[in-house]
Amino acid sequence: MGDDRANRSDDSHRGAFGEFGGESTGLIDRAFRERIVLAGVTLNRGDTEITEASLDELAQLVDTAGADAVARVHQSRESPDAATYVGSGKAAEIRDVSEEHDADTVVFDDELSPAQQGNLTAILKRSALDRTAVILDIFAQNASSLEGKAQVELAQLRYRLPRLRGMGKVLSQQGGGIGTRGPGETQLEVDRRRLMRRVSRLEADLKRVRRHRATQSKARRRTSNQSVAIVGYTNSGKSTLLNRLTDAGVLVEDRLFATLDATTRRLDLPGGESVYMTDTVGFVRKLPHQLVDAFKSTLDVVVDADLLLHVVDSSDPDPMGSIDAVRHVLSEIGAADVPEMYVFNKADLAPVEAARLAAREPDSVVVSAVTGDGVPELLAEVANRLRAVTSLYSLLVPFDRGDILAMAHREGEVLSETADEDGWSLEARLDEGSAGRLDEFVVDSDRPELSG
Ligand code: GTP
Repeated sequence: MGDDRANRSDDSHRGAFGEFGGESTGLIDRAFRERIVLAGVTLNRGDTEITEASLDELAQLVDTAGADAVARVHQSRESPDAATYVGSGKAAEIRDVSEEHDADTVVFDDELSPAQQGNLTAILKRSALDRTAVILDIFAQNASSLEGKAQVELAQLRYRLPRLRGMGKVLSQQGGGIGTRGPGETQLEVDRRRLMRRVSRLEADLKRVRRHRATQSKARRRTSNQSVAIVGYTNSGKSTLLNRLTDAGVLVEDRLFATLDATTRRLDLPGGESVYMTDTVGFVRKLPHQLVDAFKSTLDVVVDADLLLHVVDSSDPDPMGSIDAVRHVLSEIGAADVPEMYVFNKADLAPVEAARLAAREPDSVVVSAVTGDGVPELLAEVANRLRAVTSLYSLLVPFDRGDILAMAHREGEVLSETADEDGWSLEARLDEGSAGRLDEFVVDSDRPELSG
């Protein structure tokens, strides 16, 4: 990649940054389809098949980012080389392959240190990127809300800051601007300070959004009951499932990370209770920690959920690997202990595999979000699982308290309702929050501390 192109592809920290979320652009040039060589390393006598599968996925990621994978190089070694990750001999081989295929860029399947990236760019005579850069690039292309853009930009800046030295030449052509240059300061320091200021600004903005969101979700919890979050590997069918379950109209696309912003819809379960159901960003193997961190405010909804629907693509060649990747991110964001139910999707494509997976996981369901098969069973199971955290209450509601009667119906599952002498007598399943709000009207409960 020449300086010229490097200039164009490194625009994201410039330009007119708005109050919130500048234009996030990627690290990959999209003026034309770049030709990419993929490089994967199997470390410590690991499984080469896993490396190949990971390279298949990297090829898909590169394609989603708008470039073409034209060749791949694979290597097994004991441990990464500190200077060049692959070792200088292999790096020379990758350069030859790149020349042979007229490639613009080499993408490595693991995160390169800033030093490795710099050294490799010199040896390869073209830009050396890593999987993290590609994922950040896709997120940058897909971010549409102000919050999403700010989150991606923050992740990009955190990725770029330690790599600034290698980009010094590019940045120094931009000039420091009035008031940014101090005596004896190098351009690199000026640039670093400018980016760090931008990082602090974005962090502060996102903190504000997070606080606002926490207030909203508290308000929602006061007025309603439980919440279910749909999580899963990218392209597993989360948006399709939410659309099938509600009329959410969430964008469904056969590409990775089509959904970046969480979409929440109310859904009525077979028992009559309503729940909030949220579709979330897809996860992927080796999801950059900068992104996980930046997307914390969006992912709060997962941490706060009463139940996670973990959607798995049953036609995935390595479903267990994808499940592990999702579980890894869940524990990284502090959601490892939220009750989780597996939904083995795309049963129309892979019925045998879906059944085999479901047999290993108790309380899981097999569905096809496209045909709707299994969806009634899924809803019944969701209601069951949520019921497990509710208790049975007997309520007596005076006849003049229609508002309370409506509240019991809205927030819980009313099993019976009869008119007695003193008012309506209800049997209802309520969660703790709703029971607290209706406390004044509770006459009995199967909750151990109340019924005893
Ligand atoms: P991300 O936003 O990337 O995380 O994707 P997602 O998990 O929300 O997946 P999405 O719903 O966008 O679906 C991805 C692709 O899988 C689309 O082409 C869907 O039509 C397809 N798909 C989803 N569910 C099914 C299914 O049950 N059967 C089949 N055959 N295809 C499905």
